[in-house]
Amino acid sequence: MNVLIIGSGAREHALAWGVARSSKVSTVFVAPGNGGTATMGGKVRNVAIKATDIDALLDFVERESIGLTVVGPEQPLEVGIVNRFREAGLTVVGPTAEAAQLETSKVFAKEFMKRHGIPTAGYEVFRDHASAKSFLESCASFPQVIKASGLCAGKGVVVAESREQALEAIHDFFESRVFGDAADEVVIEEFLSGQEASVFALTDGENYQLFLPAQDHKRIGEGDTGKNTGGMGAYAPAPLVTPEVMSRVEEEVIKPTLAGMKADGYAYTGFLYVGLMIDNGVSSVVEYNARLGDPETQVVVPMLKSDLFDAFIASVDGGLEDVPFEMQEGAAATVVMASAGYPDGYETGKAITIDPALNDMEDVLVFHAGTRRAGDNLVTSGGRVLSVTASGPSLKEALEKAYRGVAAIEFEGVVFRRDIGAKAL
Ligand code: AMP
Ligand code: GLY
Repeated sequence: MNVLIIGSGAREHALAWGVARSSKVSTVFVAPGNGGTATMGGKVRNVAIKATDIDALLDFVERESIGLTVVGPEQPLEVGIVNRFREAGLTVVGPTAEAAQLETSKVFAKEFMKRHGIPTAGYEVFRDHASAKSFLESCASFPQVIKASGLCAGKGVVVAESREQALEAIHDFFESRVFGDAADEVVIEEFLSGQEASVFALTDGENYQLFLPAQDHKRIGEGDTGKNTGGMGAYAPAPLVTPEVMSRVEEEVIKPTLAGMKADGYAYTGFLYVGLMIDNGVSSVVEYNARLGDPETQVVVPMLKSDLFDAFIASVDGGLEDVPFEMQEGAAATVVMASAGYPDGYETGKAITIDPALNDMEDVLVFHAGTRRAGDNLVTSGGRVLSVTASGPSLKEALEKAYRGVAAIEFEGVVFRRDIGAKAL
């Protein structure tokens, strides 16, 4: 069967790598893909269609008789790619636009959790500057967490340590309109302390299978300092998510989320990403995403021993509860290599050199994000450039191998964190 993966990040490279391993898959197309998916060879090929160009994607799927489409990022979900594919009778992994509101509207997500008794921080919703301001002026304690409701590429959250910072954030949101319509509604919520981890489920709306729990590193700087990024590295499993924590998360979050969405008339299908704050074994939901995480996918997909393609098909056609979904022993880690200046402005077009010795490194995989082919060369084309993943019998060994992989790659101004996984060791 031919498969289409939609997106262009390292997450989509890892998904393409994962499904290409199945003997049942003939060709994996990635739209639009990147320099890595362009040069994987074998079954994987790029197709130059934007992730949100649904008409062109539908044409392509019919022309190439694609039997399965997997949606990577949130933007095509928000504009209803799954609705349109289903109307056309196609097999697609992802939630509808209505169900994806768990990610695309923080107000929807908070109200949903409150209605269904799912643990999350207490909150208020504001639709104008004046009422948000008077709320903050009467707040007895800080930090308070201020969130634009709509999609802001992970940048719409301010953990305000002081009243001044909080007032500045709501001014930016409502008056300077730095996020445009995405901040027409603003959530102000209680600050949660603890450690973060992410749990990912693949679901048909009722049954689900769990990937390994993972931990991301959101800040650009070592020791979790500096600006928030899309994610600078990850590892799985996250030891913080003990089997006891995981079973509570299933009972208190995953099951009620799926049942609640179904009861509300928005049966949730595809990937459910639950971002958690865990404090003394007690978890609260920080956010939902309607997709897999990036860079977490680059560790949770390589850790899956079972056939990913079979699981995707079962998640749409039925039988997900019986499909094998077994994990490798040990751990995986990924280190993101980014352009100088990221997450702010950065230059692109820098030549990337990869030492051929890397091909002989066992258990090391290089997933591309912001790369493109320029003639015979590979050059940078984005903020996050590469995600170097390795697995091993322990997290320590996985990290050592991943950093050996990183050392074999060069481009001008490369930035990466040297402390991925350090907290877990
Ligand atoms: P979100 O986009 O909602 O995941 O928020 C981005 C980041 O802000 C999270 O990964 C947390 O590090 C932080 N954050 C969000 N909400 C809270 C909260 N209620 N308490 C503490 N930190 C939070
Ligand atoms: N790694 C965080 C995200 O994908 O949203």
